[in-house]
Amino acid sequence: MTVLTELHQDHVNLNKLLAVLQNKLERLKHGEMPNFILLADAVDYISNYADAYHHPREDEMYAYFSDAGEPELKEAIAQCCEDHRTLKQYSTELLEAVDCILNDAVVPMDQFVAKLEAFLDHQIDHLNLEEGTIFPLLDDMTTDEQWRELEQKLPKMDDPLFGEQQKERYIELYTELLQDMR
Ligand SMILES: [Fe+2]
Ligand SMILES: [Fe+2]
Repeated sequence: MTVLTELHQDHVNLNKLLAVLQNKLERLKHGEMPNFILLADAVDYISNYADAYHHPREDEMYAYFSDAGEPELKEAIAQCCEDHRTLKQYSTELLEAVDCILNDAVVPMDQFVAKLEAFLDHQIDHLNLEEGTIFPLLDDMTTDEQWRELEQKLPKMDDPLFGEQQKERYIELYTELLQDMR
């Protein structure tokens, strides 16, 4: 499996989680209360896996190929690296807001809904930029040897939700994901 395939698989998994969160957002907009513990787990997973592992791997990959590409690729890569910083900020803020709700602090629901919506919009735009523009360009201009060399430089971590060693904390979330896909 190449690095690009692994990163693409992360996107597929991330998309499933974003769909679950989108569903929770719709429910909130209709005045229903979703399961906030599961919502917290989903955001926690995104911040522990995507922000802490997936994005740093991509940053390494972008740094590796940044000199080689067309201006279109360079521009998209610069946008992506900026996105990674912004997305981390969004997930930290959202996680804080969910924690407040779970600890019974008063959080105005309209503010929470706006935070969740902004978080989801940015995540989706970012995935589209990578899947729609950057990954196809990289796939066209790179060689197998470059990928082999890059792979040596990248950090490795097991996916705590979709990987073989599933973390205790995410078991319930995973069950919800399976139900959602039925
Ligand atoms: Fe990314
Ligand atoms: Fe990505």
